[in-house]
Amino acid sequence: MEEKSKYEFQPMPRIGDYAPEFTARSTSGNIVFPEDFRGHWVVLFSHPADFTPVCTTEFMMLASMQDKFEEAGCKLIGLSVDSLFSHIAWLRNIKEKIEFEGIEDIDIRFPVIEDISAEVARKYGMIQPNEHKTEAVRAVFFIGPKGKVRAMMYYPLNVGRNMEEIYRTLIALKTAFAYKVSTPANWEPGKDVVISPASTYEAAQHRVDAKPNGTVCKEWFLCMKHIDKEEVLSTVLDKFPKAF
Ligand code: BEZ
Repeated sequence: MEEKSKYEFQPMPRIGDYAPEFTARSTSGNIVFPEDFRGHWVVLFSHPADFTPVCTTEFMMLASMQDKFEEAGCKLIGLSVDSLFSHIAWLRNIKEKIEFEGIEDIDIRFPVIEDISAEVARKYGMIQPNEHKTEAVRAVFFIGPKGKVRAMMYYPLNVGRNMEEIYRTLIALKTAFAYKVSTPANWEPGKDVVISPASTYEAAQHRVDAKPNGTVCKEWFLCMKHIDKEEVLSTVLDKFPKAF
């Protein structure tokens, strides 16, 4: 019979839940979460281990985009089941020695959490024992300014994440909340957004016939409207996030 891991049966946060609280040491000092980050969007992401190749490329790519995330009102926080001194040594090693896709001499300025006991990783369902018994999978949590989980992604150990997709998801979330719309497949700023479906028979007909507020309906249940790219960007890139 397969041995039961102490990591099993841990409830995982769900979209809409308050993000689990924790205090931890990090490469930028102590963190009290979510208090220290209230009013900001946060992308909290885990990686399996320091000094591993895929994680190194992910960190370099994300660090190269940190200013973009900051401009979008979003703080980055990394985490693995490693010690603070391991994190520091790895980040120094990356800066001094590694070049990846034109990125080199890079300072990783976002905090990386020490989680040797895996307490934080377990709270966030980052330890998935059938993938690895003790290392965190590649998880990404998008947490809104009021501390609620707004999106989650989980990748296995052997597939590096697309950092542009993480950024795109952040912008899509901020757009969806700011304009009370939804974003369709492959949406990017400047593409049409989806408005909520009509909830009465009469409203459905009105949508199709009257095209209110420039709405274009492909069918009564699939109505879209245009928001200019510049308007979306000026809304979502402000430094004062709306309260979600
Ligand atoms: C990596 O980052 O390269 C890696 C880490 C753990 C397992 C497999 C790959």
